[in-house]
Amino acid sequence: MKIVVLAGGRSTERNVSLSSGTKISNALRSKGHRVALVDLFLGQELAGDTDVDDLFTTEPGDDSKLNISDEILNDDKINALRPDHGAKGLFGPNVLTICQAADIVYLGLHGEDGENGKVQAVLDLFNIHYTGSDTLASGLAMNKKYSKEIFIQNHIPTAAYIATKTSQVTAEQIPFGFPVVVKPASGGSSVGTHIVPTADQLQAALADALSFDEEALIEEYIKGREFSIALLDGAALPAVEIVVKKGWYDFEHKFQANDDTQLISPPDIDDQLHQEMQALALQAFNALGMQNYGRVDFLVREGQPYAIEANSLPGMTPLSLIPQEARAAGIEYADLCERIIESKVRFYQKQQA
Ligand SMILES: Nc1ncnc2c1ncn2[C@@H]1O[C@H](COP(=O)(O)OP(=O)(O)O)[C@@H](O)[C@H]1O
Ligand SMILES: [Mg+2]
Repeated sequence: MKIVVLAGGRSTERNVSLSSGTKISNALRSKGHRVALVDLFLGQELAGDTDVDDLFTTEPGDDSKLNISDEILNDDKINALRPDHGAKGLFGPNVLTICQAADIVYLGLHGEDGENGKVQAVLDLFNIHYTGSDTLASGLAMNKKYSKEIFIQNHIPTAAYIATKTSQVTAEQIPFGFPVVVKPASGGSSVGTHIVPTADQLQAALADALSFDEEALIEEYIKGREFSIALLDGAALPAVEIVVKKGWYDFEHKFQANDDTQLISPPDIDDQLHQEMQALALQAFNALGMQNYGRVDFLVREGQPYAIEANSLPGMTPLSLIPQEARAAGIEYADLCERIIESKVRFYQKQQA
């Protein structure tokens, strides 16, 4: 197949995305696919006589050209990468032209740009096929308030919560005790998320969470083990347990290789709990209307799993959860990438039938 791997973009996680995009591209090439790795934000200038078809190759890409670093970029630094400083919007030159030449686009984006559903809407309007969920499901999964309301409607246990647009919340207004967890309604990678032990730290935590989104959630703190379940092609993969030795699963633990975070798959839990989480994950995935693949995360307290959130575009870096879960199910990284594509191709075929 002819595949565009779309990565980069304008989010603070663009470098993480470029790194997984390279990995995904070379994995798909190893399976014999013709792949073009395209940076959503930078696009690609095409000389007058360029045949777009020539951009798709089976030769492994030169990773060094991608300028991958673990530097966290701010808007100014990202905008400076493009001659028009991003004035013409998120899609760089010729991105849509190159995507239209592909059979399908593998969305290797991380962070808001790819997860909120807007890129999917643009691709839909241009009749471009892509992996993962559609606009509506992506938007719902991105917003933890809407996700939780859908979980509650569908009897999927989730931590009790209230939503607020102001930091001026007092302990009396919260129908559960401390500690609580404060997080932006839309966000990711634990950025802006705080575990708040006592009422006197509540407003500062809310002010920080509200600097990332206009709405924040205050959640009951669930003390327990943390698990993640990947869904692929209508079925749940084995769970992975996230064990953090010091602190909790914050940004550093998610993206920096260290001995502090252990991902264990399959985890040491009884079959009944494992199957219950897999069933709940699939219910949550379906209730949000997600397609193709995704991830649902849980905290387990006294044997009871609580869904924390769903991810419509889960990370594919070597440290990410899905590749580890797939391995526990005997699916190697390149096979996983190919299965994601094949499953979405079947989805489109059914839609057209
Ligand atoms: N209600 C909660 N109780 C205890 N820990 C939580 C709760 N919600 C989130 N956490 C911790 O914070 C991390 C990040 O929160 P999460 O809701 O998954 O947001 P993100 O989208 O940033 O990953 C989780 O992986 C978990 O370790
Ligand atoms: Mg999370």
